Amino acid sequence: MVIDELKKNYIPHHVAVIMDGNGRWAELHGNDRIFGHRQGVDAVRSVVEGAGEAGIEYLTLYAFSTENWDRPKEEVNALMSLLVNAIIQETKNLNEKNVKMLAIGDLASLPDDVQSKLDEAIQSTSSNTGLNLVLALSYSGRWELVEAVKKIVRETKNGELTENQITECLISNHLSTAGIPDPELLIRTSGEYRISNFLLWQIAYSEFYFTPLLWPDFRKENLFEAIADFQCRERRFGKTSEQIRS
Ligand code: IPE
Ligand code: IPE
Ligand code: MG
Repeated sequence: MVIDELKKNYIPHHVAVIMDGNGRWAELHGNDRIFGHRQGVDAVRSVVEGAGEAGIEYLTLYAFSTENWDRPKEEVNALMSLLVNAIIQETKNLNEKNVKMLAIGDLASLPDDVQSKLDEAIQSTSSNTGLNLVLALSYSGRWELVEAVKKIVRETKNGELTENQITECLISNHLSTAGIPDPELLIRTSGEYRISNFLLWQIAYSEFYFTPLLWPDFRKENLFEAIADFQCRERRFGKTSEQIRS
């Protein structure tokens, strides 16, 4: 699929991706899981480039979940050092492509070197005006909702908030994605049909796109395919088809 086949005036503002299947890809290629994670970086580079070319405003990548901390220690350590190296290596490229990096998740739980390299990359790309690349790191939807509830309770106790002020909009503004529009499109690779604790609140009306491709094989052409599929769907938001068409 090439980018020219997309309807230019109907590109989703926000695409979120559950990048899954690195381990299975590695197994298929007779290698260890870490090799699969390493190959996954090429897919990230291609998709970030494609998202910029398509004019997507926000691309959120699920890179490490709260639950992923429970993987074997060696895999967690390897993922963390891969993350540091990828951030260091890719920052120049991100600046050349005018990409602004952001991160959501329990960032304080990341090792110090990951936190500091991440901060540097966020700082260094902060004045870029193209694609916003949001990395979900040590992230989970339930973690985020618990944090939001705590903040709201605190503000209510302080007298900054009253019960009547608690609206959907206020809750959205207390999430780590505050200020970011909800994703219109959510992609998951590797043939799994689940959300795995990703953006639970934000995907209330997202269109889901599942592909059997394993993440290391995913490229920007596959992102364009997902967008083309999205562009053919009728989003009804609870209304009837007739209402939408008129
Ligand atoms: C996704 O690939 C990367 C992370 C979750 C960090 P996996 O490592 O989950 O690969 P599979 O699902 O075991 O194939
Ligand atoms: C989801 O993938 C998390 C990321 C892609 C970072 P997992 O591989 O961890 O999800 P489950 O365990 O198969 O649901
Ligand atoms: Mg997986």
